[in-house]
Amino acid sequence: MLKTDFSTYIKNKNYQSYEEKIKDIKIKLNNGGEMLDWYDIDKCITEEELTKIKKLSNDIRKDAELFIIIGIGGSFLGAKAIITALSPYFIKNKPEIVFAGTSLSEQYLIELLKYMENKNTYVNVISKSGTTLEPSIAFDLIYKKMQEKYSTDELQKRIIITTDPLKGSLRELIKQKNYPSFVVPEQIGGRYSVLTAVGLLPISVAGIDIDQLLLGARNCNIDQAFKYAIIRDTLYNEGKLVESFTFYEPKLEYFAEWLKQLFGETQGKNKNGILPIASNNTRDLHSLGQFYQEGNPIIFETVIGIEKKGNLKCSLLKKNIEDINMIALKQVAFAHLDADIESNIILIDELNEYNLGTLIYFFEVAAATGGYLLNVNPFNQPGVTAYKKLIEKELE
Ligand code: PA5
Repeated sequence: MLKTDFSTYIKNKNYQSYEEKIKDIKIKLNNGGEMLDWYDIDKCITEEELTKIKKLSNDIRKDAELFIIIGIGGSFLGAKAIITALSPYFIKNKPEIVFAGTSLSEQYLIELLKYMENKNTYVNVISKSGTTLEPSIAFDLIYKKMQEKYSTDELQKRIIITTDPLKGSLRELIKQKNYPSFVVPEQIGGRYSVLTAVGLLPISVAGIDIDQLLLGARNCNIDQAFKYAIIRDTLYNEGKLVESFTFYEPKLEYFAEWLKQLFGETQGKNKNGILPIASNNTRDLHSLGQFYQEGNPIIFETVIGIEKKGNLKCSLLKKNIEDINMIALKQVAFAHLDADIESNIILIDELNEYNLGTLIYFFEVAAATGGYLLNVNPFNQPGVTAYKKLIEKELE
């Protein structure tokens, strides 16, 4: 269950001027069209693909010791966010899940190639374009290592490719080698793709219930998302240039990374947009907290909290730790409001698949709406393409 509290900390504001704009945006989203298939969960994943994902992930879970996910940006952040949120702190997943292709660190690759030497390994390479530099380099090296380790027959179950339905070098490889494969739907961009095979296969390999994740997304009350998008836009127009995604459960660290990408790439265009940052509280109250309280008040916060009954009592304060955490969340929001830092509070009652699915869809709708309100195309990322071209030219 998702509960929002946008009223407490927001002074009287007039949102009526948004009525017509939101009406138009809803029509646009409902009509579908270019890059809008994420809005219809049925277009994210077919029943047939879902069955194939469950079967394959089950087989991998029975056999593999190591599952390597190769991808960057939208091709890894959604999976990493959900897996981190729902995995225990101190017990390793079986299979162990590691990511590659997210940097150009030579040391990381050297250590990973060594690490996979004696481990029963499966690889899922995810790239819509099939041309992105970091995953291409990682896949090249890891694929060679896999070819040394395994026979051609073995590779046919161990290399899984998720890519564009028609184009690109990875699609060519699928045609040549007949490796198991999944599609990134043509009309869904990377940062909106977590509920497609891009996110669902790795998440399912981690033993997480993807049916519940999808159900949570389907049941999301999107009116709240439109309201949140309006509040963000209002705050931006009042000079709030930075949004901190503030969370009080460290397992949400990568969920905030996913949010940074979702909002950053959707809205940061035409010298416009809110800069998304993240605060891992209460840790960051002892670093960024000073800035929020007394620094330049260009920030507002979107706070994600988990409001559940705790089990662990702190004898020192005679209260459950969960309750102390919730007291911190609320009082920090009040303290920051005194410093003109508003908080949009979003609460879930448990960190589980269903609630995370709801949050994913809630934020996707809000981000796309935010893009439309700024009159930018929410679904392209020309800035990313610009630097990619320069690097490619230099590497030729
Ligand atoms: O949101 C996006 O589209 C991007 O962040 C991409 O996900 C990222 O650049 C990776 O692209 P690809 O999947 O083509 O390797």
